[in-house]
Parts: sequence; C-alpha cells; structure tokens
Amino acid sequence: MLSWPEQVVRVQSLSESGIRAIPSQYIKPLTERPVFEPGSLVHQHVDIPVIDLHNLFCKDPTLHLDTLSRISAACREWGFFQAVNHGVSHELMRRAREVWRDFFNLPLEVKQEYANTPITYEGYGSRLGVEKGAILDWSDYFFLHYLPVSLRNQSKWPEQPSSCREVIVEYGGEVVKLCTRLLKAMSTDLGLEEEYIKNAFGGDNMGACLRVNFYPKCPQPELTLGLSSHSDPGGITILLPDRDVSRLQVFINDDWITVNPVSNSLIVIVGDQIQVVSNAIYKSVEHRVMVNSAKDGVSLAMFFNPKSDLVIEPAKEVVSEERPALYDAMTFDHYRLHMRMKGPCGKARLESLKFNTP
Ligand code: OGA
Ligand code: NI
Repeated sequence: MLSWPEQVVRVQSLSESGIRAIPSQYIKPLTERPVFEPGSLVHQHVDIPVIDLHNLFCKDPTLHLDTLSRISAACREWGFFQAVNHGVSHELMRRAREVWRDFFNLPLEVKQEYANTPITYEGYGSRLGVEKGAILDWSDYFFLHYLPVSLRNQSKWPEQPSSCREVIVEYGGEVVKLCTRLLKAMSTDLGLEEEYIKNAFGGDNMGACLRVNFYPKCPQPELTLGLSSHSDPGGITILLPDRDVSRLQVFINDDWITVNPVSNSLIVIVGDQIQVVSNAIYKSVEHRVMVNSAKDGVSLAMFFNPKSDLVIEPAKEVVSEERPALYDAMTFDHYRLHMRMKGPCGKARLESLKFNTP
C-alpha cells in the first residue's frame, strides 16, 4: 500500500516549537529560493490584470465583449488574473478563511484524525510527492473532494469547528457558479460552443476539490518556499489568497512577480488541462508561494478538474494544419499521478506531454 516515505512532520508544529533555523529538508537549492526585495519598486511596471466581472453576462453587448476581451487577453498572455465583482459574497470569503484558520489552530490530536495518505490525498497533509529525501515545502494543508457529489464524503471533512462543513458547502456552491461562468466565457472566446469546456470535463460530473493551505511562520523565509513552483494540473483554480501578506508569485517573462491581491478579489489560475484543450492558446501559469517570518497565512484553492477517467485532448476546433495538436490525449487521472508522486515540478509535466519530445 502506498504510504509516505518518511515520518510526517507537521510544519505548524515545527514552527511553533520555536526553532531559529529550519531543518535541512526544507532548504531549497539556491536557484529555487525566493528573492526578497524589501521596498523594491522593480516590478511596478508590471500591470497584473484585475478584471471586474460585473458585466460578464450583461445584456449590453459592448460591456459584455469588453469584459470577455479582458479575460481573453489575461488567459492568453498571463494564464491568470485577479477577479473583482466575481459574485462570491465577501462575507462568505471572510468566514471561509476564518473557519479554516480555526481548524488549523485546533490541537494537533484533533487534526491528526484526518491525517492523509498519498493514495487519495484527502485530509490533513504536509507534503506532496512520495520521494524519499525530497526537499519539502513549508506548509500544511487540508484536501477534500467537493464535486462530483458521488465523491463528496463529509465524514472526511473536519467536524470541528462546528460550522466548517456548512461553510465549505456554501462557499463551494458560490465558487462553482463563478467557475461555470468563467468556463463559458473561455469556451466562447476560444471559438468553441459555450458549454464545450464544461462538457469536455464531464459536465455535471466535473471534479472540484478544495485545498486549504496553511503557511506557518518561518524563521528563515529566504531559504524555503510555502509551495514550490508548479502549474495547477487541472482545469482552472479559483484561489482565495491570504489576506494580510502577499505571498503568491507568478513566473512571467522569465521573472518571478509578486501578486499583491486587491481587496476581496479571487485569483483565477489557468491550469494545464485548459492549456491542453485550447492547444496552448491559453497558458497555464507557473506559480509558487513565499513564506513570512512574522505572519502565518491561510489560502483556499478550489480546483476544477476533468472527471478523472475522461480523455482530454486539444479541441478539434482549435487544431488546424497550420496549428496541429500539440499534446497527446490523456486522462486526468493519469496526468496528475506525476504531481502526486513527484510533488511540484514547475511545468515539466505539461512539457512532457508534447508530441515529439525526445
Ligand atoms: C495551490 C496554490 C497558492 C496560494 O494550492 O495550488 O498555488 O497562494 N496556492 O496558496
Ligand atoms: Ni497552484
């Protein structure tokens, strides 16, 4: 049976133990370490897209098309954007963050009841990948299935705090609505039928998983990462970022750029399966998370994925003689095995799917 290769250490416990130097398993090679530029203005010229979704399905065609063209540009050039007026209640976002912060603040024994294994990853975890001796990330997480309903197993969701399950259902419901609207917009922009991507992902059987990331304080943030560089393997991710500290970085034009979330925004991240379906018209974005010595943080990533046994391939409509299919067809189950075994690896997995790679 598949299990963790080493004894699991909870990063939160390590952080709370008051150590001044982080153990060597968390020290990244020099080239992967974050660069801290306190007070730096270096990236001010970079205009990270912030898109107001209020008019996305507005009756006025000019306003609708204007919003659609912004989404289009962001997905083609950046692979992500910040969404405001996204329809998810701000109060609910606050409650979702709070209830999960309360979960991570429960005594260790309570959380351990949900300890996960690398078979399904569901539950309370502290690593991705099962390679013995791997360099680990400075974070703990909780992972659960939200959709399809057949995979939803509330007994694997935290029983405490008492409102946790209810908040997950409420928050998940609103984020699913947002995702549905975004997939329609993306399909239309790619010249596909409005429901194309949703249907390619299994329609109402599409997968949705929630990963709540907890980033404990770190005494040496310059040596490690909260989450190593990766692109999200699924379709799209809707991320509720940490409120107080900018931690997320995206790799754009050969440079790591820190995202400063605007108030009450949600971050939309294009994943690998959308890059495949769009035949690389849309790009999945490589991203990573930095840690902080003064503040811990919580983020909620809701991943929308193809139903796991469906074969995903470039849509016929975006493939032509001039632009042949770039990727091999593959089920999502098979695709994500790489991340589940090896942990985060930049965009190496997607690159390996390209035809004619040696
Ligand atoms: C993820 C992710 C970013 C964050 O969970 O895949 O990229 O800010 N999270 O926690
Ligand atoms: Ni991610």
